[in-house]
Amino acid sequence: MKCYSARYCMVILLSFALAIIYGLKVNYHVAVVAMVNHTALAIQEGRNKSAEAGEEDGPYIWSPTVRGLQLSAYFWGYMAAQLPGGRMAEDYSAKWVYLFAVAINVVFTLLTPLLSAISSWAVVVVRVMQGIGGGMSFPATHVMLARWSPPTERSIMSSIAYCGTAAGTVLFTLLSGFIAHGLGWQWVFYLEGGFSALWILFWVIFASDFPEKQKFISAEEKAFIIESFKEEGGGEGHGKMKIPWRAIFTSLPFWAIIVAHTCSNWGWYMVLIELPTYMKDVLNFNIQENASLSSVPYLCMFIFSLILGKTIDVLRVKGKISTTFGRKAATFIASFFPCACFAALCFIVKPTPAVVLMTLSIMCIGGMYCGFLSNHIDISPNFAGTLMAITNTIATIPGIVVPIFVGWLTEKDPSIASWRTVFFVTMGLYVLEIIFYLLFASGNEQSWNRAEGR
Ligand SMILES: *[C@@H]1O[C@H](CO)[C@@H](O)[C@H](O)[C@H]1NC(C)=O
Ligand SMILES: *[C@@H]1O[C@H](CO)[C@@H](O)[C@H](O)[C@H]1NC(C)=O
Repeated sequence: MKCYSARYCMVILLSFALAIIYGLKVNYHVAVVAMVNHTALAIQEGRNKSAEAGEEDGPYIWSPTVRGLQLSAYFWGYMAAQLPGGRMAEDYSAKWVYLFAVAINVVFTLLTPLLSAISSWAVVVVRVMQGIGGGMSFPATHVMLARWSPPTERSIMSSIAYCGTAAGTVLFTLLSGFIAHGLGWQWVFYLEGGFSALWILFWVIFASDFPEKQKFISAEEKAFIIESFKEEGGGEGHGKMKIPWRAIFTSLPFWAIIVAHTCSNWGWYMVLIELPTYMKDVLNFNIQENASLSSVPYLCMFIFSLILGKTIDVLRVKGKISTTFGRKAATFIASFFPCACFAALCFIVKPTPAVVLMTLSIMCIGGMYCGFLSNHIDISPNFAGTLMAITNTIATIPGIVVPIFVGWLTEKDPSIASWRTVFFVTMGLYVLEIIFYLLFASGNEQSWNRAEGR
């Protein structure tokens, strides 16, 4: 076995890129707490400062509404950039789209301290720009994976690339907390932005759009990757191809991914944002105060998704399971267990089992990377970026709806009864996902992948 592999080098660079993009997104959530003057805000609202002890004051008097706007501004850029990002990555160069996506995040992170001094609106602009970079990253990742991952290694390579998002979220959240306390909030942006800029150097040198163009690849590896695509239509879309929109939107396997991606994201935002709120409000347990406890689930997710991805690839190579079965099994794990956890949470009202269930859910959700999330590449390697752009745009809507929905239900009545309603809706969506995906998903290349343009 060779100790250097160009395709794993590529996929690890992708993983770091996603960690950076997610890290530079979530660091603001930590830093902003140290950026606002809580005393001045409390006086403005006529509250008593002593009720909120423990938060240090920063220079800015930004109301919760302004901060909410800054945090949600990311979504605007994120959604708008999906399709243009995916199309440019497919037609021109995924390498340069990716470089732009990370560079825009790095530059605006470095500029955040300067721009925040100008106005709270400048930060809204910063967040939109970062969202644009973030929005291009998933489709561009899919384009790269379609060109670099042999079908027999696709599950593990997708898992490696996409679990960068979990690693980045944890590492940058912890790091930002330390930096903000130790050195001051400005250094969160300077240090993390500066450090992330190093990636750009590696990417420019080592990344390329196709194995054929790569300088640092051995002849055997190049032949191996190209040969592996012979059976499917991957690696052929070297030029521009006309998109078979009609065929795409009438394809049931594609709809299965849309439904799975959307329902699964609903559950993901529930677990990520609303479950900690539930534990704090109803169970009187603040998991976010405990940085190490709240990072354990992500570590489990990281490890679990790699093990599952590798297992599926091995079983496929041995001929024990089909790709279709592998995708369905992984998606089932990623949706059934969180669904069962929400069912249990309707009856469990103690913090410890709730934390255990939450950890298990997050771990199992890691199955999505080698489940529906890499399924786009199976059904159409030539249009994987476009397909990802479509499903990810639709799947971002729950990110906007979930907080509004939960806020609306629990504001009037913050008791466990309202939370049960929230949990039931989430379980319903998971059941829909499981049924629809198991019925209609496919791991095989669809005829429209190369129908037109030849
Ligand atoms: C925060 O606001 C209070 C009241 O307006 C003021 O006395 C204090 O100096 C401010 N702190 C900072 C760090 O700007
Ligand atoms: C704030 O709290 C202190 C001590 O708890 C109390 O003496 C004071 O009256 C309170 N002020 C307001 C505005 O509620």
